[in-house]
Amino acid sequence: MLKENKYYITTPIYYVNDKPHIGHAYTTIVADVLARFWREKLGKENVYFLTGTDEHGAKIAESAAKLNIDPQTFTDQVSKQFQLAWKNLDISYDQFIRTTDEKHKKIVQEILLKLKIAQTPNGNDTIYQADYQGLYCVGCEKFILESELVDGLCPDHKKVPQSLSEKNWFFRLADYLPSIINKIKNNELVIFPESRKNEVLGILEKQALPDFSISRSKLSVPWGIDLPWDKDQKAYVWVDALSNYITALDYPDGKNFQKFWPADCQLLALDILKFHAIFWPALLMALDLPLPKVLNIHGFFTIDGQKMSKTIGNVIDPNTLVETYGAESTKYLILSQFAFGAESDIRVEDFPAKYNADLVNGLGNLVSRVTNMVEQYLSGQVNLSKDINTEFVQSVHAKIEQLKFRDALLDIWKLIQNANVLVDTSKPWLLSKSENPADQKTLVEVLTTLSNDLYQIAFALKAFMPETAQAILNILTATEIKKPVEPLFKRLEN
Ligand code: MSP
Repeated sequence: MLKENKYYITTPIYYVNDKPHIGHAYTTIVADVLARFWREKLGKENVYFLTGTDEHGAKIAESAAKLNIDPQTFTDQVSKQFQLAWKNLDISYDQFIRTTDEKHKKIVQEILLKLKIAQTPNGNDTIYQADYQGLYCVGCEKFILESELVDGLCPDHKKVPQSLSEKNWFFRLADYLPSIINKIKNNELVIFPESRKNEVLGILEKQALPDFSISRSKLSVPWGIDLPWDKDQKAYVWVDALSNYITALDYPDGKNFQKFWPADCQLLALDILKFHAIFWPALLMALDLPLPKVLNIHGFFTIDGQKMSKTIGNVIDPNTLVETYGAESTKYLILSQFAFGAESDIRVEDFPAKYNADLVNGLGNLVSRVTNMVEQYLSGQVNLSKDINTEFVQSVHAKIEQLKFRDALLDIWKLIQNANVLVDTSKPWLLSKSENPADQKTLVEVLTTLSNDLYQIAFALKAFMPETAQAILNILTATEIKKPVEPLFKRLEN
């Protein structure tokens, strides 16, 4: 059955080894905009937005041990910081899942048991036991091949991987690969943008991908979900984590699962593309479930060309941005800086000037000028068409659907700029003083155009800046239009 009138969107669940930074915030903000956009279109009850935290595995256990606290207390603390950051950014998720939730743990065990009895398309057991001898990078939480190392180090974490020799349970990936390649090629599983799709197909077609382990020895990773049939083993953290996208919906029998799976949009950055485009589809196929419709991949961004890291000390805390600019302006500043998908530098040093130019002098000033003039010259009365079926709104919405957030915002700010220019050139304050009836007519026309422009602008902004948009719509639809007492955006000091 095709389920078209619903929208299920997910972000990766973030590791709690560290507190939230602007990289996590970016993906979550994008998801928030899309969720809000689709709620307007499909109704609140037909949209489900999931985010959360990934709390098991060696990496988390090590971080807790360093602080001398038990892993549960540690993950409770850090997970709270993620929830607080998303509250500060006014993120409208429907569920915040934690992999330490009892419900999640129980369903993951059910999933593992289903995998245990599954057969591959070639009629082999999907899961088998084998000895593993090789290398493991705790930072990546993955087994790593000798050939992937650079100067003996993991290229992402610049650390020497651990050398392992364990008996683990393995997933027979090879048997699922032809089918995964097919589904990606014929866009049954869309990987967007196209360049990332080609990257995945490149990996699938050129490399002999080894089977992946679904468990780790309890002795080396004591912090995780028990493997139901082998008490010496814990579930591999990526199997635990990827499952969150369906455990959150109460797989297999939950109403939400029936209604919302498959996902319509799974957001992530390219760092975890392989897990989502190869391992995740394989797991789903082994469970006999449909694959997500679209994986939307964005770039990894840097600070002055460098990776964000505690060692370098260049980590940007989204809470600080919210304190300075407020939640909605922070979202605007981040999404308008570069196109979705791009690998780019985040330049927070550009934010103050952009905030003043676009929000204080651009949108804020337009709202106060137009409402002030309607209040003064037209006794607060103007004829609003409230037509939202315009080319402008449609074009902005089409861009949001295509994840072209920066372009959508550029369109909106172009109209803001044009409207501000119209105020400057038509000089309503002179027209209002003229006794000439033609001037009076022009005054009404100009202020009507400007008010309608503002209406369109506010409507188009809803998904990005819901409170600002609503505040403008409230002013415009009041029985008497009045200039707001407080400006929408406060000018920054210094
Ligand atoms: N826990 C895993 C994901 C499991 S999903 C089943 C994980 N966590 S993470 O905390 O490392 O988050 C990675 C994700 O955070 C990226 O895919 C991206 O969405 C976001 N980002 C983290 N740092 C980022 C940048 N510097 N730039 C852009 N996005 C970033 O991997």
